[in-house]
Amino acid sequence: MVKEKKLRTPLIAGNWKMNNTRAAAEALVGGLVPLVKDLVDVEVCVCPPFTALDAARKAIGDSGIQLGAQNVFWEEKGAWTSQISPDMLLDAGCKYAIVGHSETRGRFGTVDETLASRLSYFGETDATINVKAKFMLAKGLIPIVCCGETIDERKTGKTDEVISGQIKACLSGISADEIEKLVIAYEPVWAIGTGEVCETAEANRVCRMIRQTVRESFGADAGNGVRILYGGSMNDKNAEDLLEQSEIDGGLVGGAALKAESFGVICKAASFAAWNFYI
Ligand code: PGA
Repeated sequence: MVKEKKLRTPLIAGNWKMNNTRAAAEALVGGLVPLVKDLVDVEVCVCPPFTALDAARKAIGDSGIQLGAQNVFWEEKGAWTSQISPDMLLDAGCKYAIVGHSETRGRFGTVDETLASRLSYFGETDATINVKAKFMLAKGLIPIVCCGETIDERKTGKTDEVISGQIKACLSGISADEIEKLVIAYEPVWAIGTGEVCETAEANRVCRMIRQTVRESFGADAGNGVRILYGGSMNDKNAEDLLEQSEIDGGLVGGAALKAESFGVICKAASFAAWNFYI
């Protein structure tokens, strides 16, 4: 059997969302460290809420786990109540920040009627995601740019159009060199937190389409270099299948990132998937 390393090192990022106090963050990372510290050819990252970044960083120690934030603002400093700047995140030890998640874009699949009028309360758009991504890159923080279609868009055959539109708008004006460094997460809105995972071949097809869109806009090197993650109900059971796909370079994991054991299994699957095996 011949082993050949894949072009891109997989990244598994745990999006904790609004979960975990400082003590819970310490316990979760403490449980994760022994499970992932010896894994090779995979980058592991946790994205706690802002309030637990410091506790997570301390628990990470020198294990090699990376730290990410769940959002960031596009100004350096000033009168922006509630916002957090890239410098603040770098100071907290972050390497990454998630932007354009469907939960901050206001693109939940279906919502409780009583929430419908507040659907876009975070109001993130392709244009603000673009400004954030550019500012982050200028500061040395790596964006994890999320994209994804709603169930209605999928059912009406608009998936590719919606996603390539999001990608072009979110990455507009970024240099090809910088595109190579950043991370894109394909997260079908209907698969997030629902237990309904996108079928592996289809997830791979959409990731390929995203890579092709990047190639057309920014050139072959940018398309080959950019890492494209899948997110949406990835767990310890389905991770291996998804991560083995040629175009899927890792995962953005929500629910299954809240338990060290399941997240550890996903990280291990990614480490294994970093290699192609030929008979
Ligand atoms: P999920 O969330 O794994 O719970 O579906 C993924 C995400 O929202 O990033």
